[in-house]
Amino acid sequence: MRLDKFLAEAGVGSRSEVKQLIRKKAVTVDGQTAVGPEQKLRENDRGVAETVCVNGKSVSYSRFVYYMLNKPAGYVSSTEDPASETVTELVPADRNVFPVGRLDKDTEGLCILTNDGALAHRLLSPGRHVEKCYYAEVDGELTEHHVQQFRAGIVIRDKNHDEKPVTLLPAELRILSAEPDFSRAEVTICEGKYHQIKRMFAAVGCGVLYLKRLSMGGVTLDGQLQPGAYRPLTDGEIAILKNGGKRK
Ligand code: URA
Repeated sequence: MRLDKFLAEAGVGSRSEVKQLIRKKAVTVDGQTAVGPEQKLRENDRGVAETVCVNGKSVSYSRFVYYMLNKPAGYVSSTEDPASETVTELVPADRNVFPVGRLDKDTEGLCILTNDGALAHRLLSPGRHVEKCYYAEVDGELTEHHVQQFRAGIVIRDKNHDEKPVTLLPAELRILSAEPDFSRAEVTICEGKYHQIKRMFAAVGCGVLYLKRLSMGGVTLDGQLQPGAYRPLTDGEIAILKNGGKRK
């Protein structure tokens, strides 16, 4: 990575401001005065391998960023969209982050955004069975029978393969309240099929009225975050995700 890009991304200043600092010899790389803005630094997982100082103070920078967003309804889970606002518009724009997995436009809740492609790939890999927990409100009366159906594996039609029936992996349904036309529940799944929760409830005759993701891979939505608000993940949360999305 170029030195001026590194300094700008680390928040030292704009690209032209950091170029000025380098020209004024305010910047050192491993103790040596920086040669020029285009000087190359070696990247590693932490950020860069060299110690970069500005006016004698070391600049820290991590190559990857990780955010937790409380996604509001009305935003699509992608980096760009011709018609709708996207979740990436709600977090800092300078680090090229993308959402880890998709929530429907009308779904709220935990959305993890990062520029760490390898971690995102691992969390979304079907073989890893990373758990996701959702809060749902549905228009039917949930019963113990539904709990058993979810546990046994709900059968849905696979739209990508001639509508062939697919048996989903066992899911945990916890009924929070149940009335004839309205129930509240939490559902934990370890797959990530398209519209999975809505299709699971549809398969047992219920329509989803409201859906919110509460957790993913052992990381729980911070209750302090209002819809639309985000915060960086803590080191502990990043460690949980890097540990395969499962708590140690
Ligand atoms: N399942 C759904 O149906 N929608 C979501 O947004 C997430 C899971």
